[in-house]
Amino acid sequence: KVFEDSQTASKAIAKEIAKLIKVKQSQKQPCVLGLATGSSPKGLYAELVRLHKEEGLSFKNVVTFNLDEYYPMEPDSVNSYVRFMKTLLFDQVDILKENCHIPDGTLSKADIADYCSRYEAKIEALGGIDLQILGIGGNGHIGFNESGSLQNSKTRLVALDHITRVAASKDFAGLVNTPKTAITLGVKKIMEAKRVILMAWGEAKSAIIRASVEGQITNQVPASFLQEHNNATFVLDKGAASKL
Ligand code: GLP
Repeated sequence: KVFEDSQTASKAIAKEIAKLIKVKQSQKQPCVLGLATGSSPKGLYAELVRLHKEEGLSFKNVVTFNLDEYYPMEPDSVNSYVRFMKTLLFDQVDILKENCHIPDGTLSKADIADYCSRYEAKIEALGGIDLQILGIGGNGHIGFNESGSLQNSKTRLVALDHITRVAASKDFAGLVNTPKTAITLGVKKIMEAKRVILMAWGEAKSAIIRASVEGQITNQVPASFLQEHNNATFVLDKGAASKL
């Protein structure tokens, strides 16, 4: 779906999420959202906050699982995804703290594998992700599933690509301070989500969007796996769609 600009697109996605939350409320069911960080979903979170504050949308039945977190990472560090989510969404709506899940960047290495299995088990216990929000990295990564990630990959500790670290280095005041690893939800759980919305804005993303949508399905471009998902939508502005 191509929109005039990212603001209009973000509003349309927020509307779909609000509708889903309300349907689940009326069924007395939790609404399980998979959430992303990065610059792309910022407009979406702002619109969800607006819907809460101005239109009374409640998040009391919402359970969230974020895609990823840098490792190692302290939750109160300026660049943590915990901080990002709290500032832009969780602290501004009535979501219950215990319903917000973000991979833990403070674990000892020996505990990560176990932790990741439990993260997936929590998602499964709720019947899976109802709606997964995604951004896309310049190399086609989804979450931190970098090029080479397999379609059945699990939630795990990954090494970040050089290009991903370079993109992140502006937030970390240089490459030397940029984490080399992260914990990410695996491709398998993303593919199991009942609905997936990938958002991308601006011409800089147009080449990787074309590769993901029109190119071969390949683990070199993990977003291309979404071609095989039966309910995935790429929501784009004109710039990101300009090479399709
Ligand atoms: C990071 C995140 C991804 C995100 C990507 C793109 O790598 N871990 O989940 O999709 O950045 O970020 P942006 O939306 O800023 O382009």
